Amino acid sequence: MSAATDTKSKKVTTHGFIDMKQRGEKISMLTSYDYSMARIVDGAGIDAILVGDSASNVMAGWDTTLPITLDQMIYHGASVVRAVKRALVVVDLPFGTYQGNSKEALNSAIRVMKETGADAIKIEGGEEIIESVQRILSAGIPIMGHLGLTPQSINKFGTFAVRATEEAEARKLVKDAHLLEEAGCFAVVLEKIPATLAAQVAKELKIPVIGIGAGHDVDGQVLVVHDMLGITNEFSPRFLRRYHHLYEEISGAVEAYVRDVKAVDFPNEKEQY
Ligand code: KIV
Repeated sequence: MSAATDTKSKKVTTHGFIDMKQRGEKISMLTSYDYSMARIVDGAGIDAILVGDSASNVMAGWDTTLPITLDQMIYHGASVVRAVKRALVVVDLPFGTYQGNSKEALNSAIRVMKETGADAIKIEGGEEIIESVQRILSAGIPIMGHLGLTPQSINKFGTFAVRATEEAEARKLVKDAHLLEEAGCFAVVLEKIPATLAAQVAKELKIPVIGIGAGHDVDGQVLVVHDMLGITNEFSPRFLRRYHHLYEEISGAVEAYVRDVKAVDFPNEKEQY
């Protein structure tokens, strides 16, 4: 087996993530929430799969990520883990399961690791959740941080606009990123912030910085898989590149099926027993 093939088939670990940053290899990450999608995404060579709490929007149709529960995240996480052979699997701790109480945060993280078999968890915030971060890490559970537009705080922000455009918020974000690194997080996601600020954080940190709407001078990129495949079509932020238009493709296939059933064209002679 060549070195290239070996890297392609070897399970990605949190240490592998940090090695990729040191080698200057960009990290690819997409969300998945179920077995069938995760099998395709992993088979196509993605480095990491995020079982994001965006499942609340994409899978359940809620307006925000707030309603999804720990049990529901565990259901999605375990479904994804059953499909994945190579990618690092990271599961979001949902809103209300880690803020303000580090013991509860640890219990939530332990449940995710035990009941899904995931490799790591992700949580949103900096200084205000640092006690939870430290307590989870002390149990040997790897953490990916998340700063910038943190959707679980949407009711505080009041808008999905770009974050940290003002000096004070930018300074806090840089400080929080350092705090997360010093605590021992293995990576941090920066969502919807100015590209120059994200580049500065990526340069200052040793751990990988994964961007979403944070420009290309970071160590990797993450997108919601339903957005990049065009399954969702009602959401078009500037940072989103659509690699397919599956909404139209699936809709066309369903219309054809309906036509065939109505016309008694399906099933035909060869499609019956
Ligand atoms: O839940 C999610 O999908 C996320 C990404 C957008 C980073 O947190």
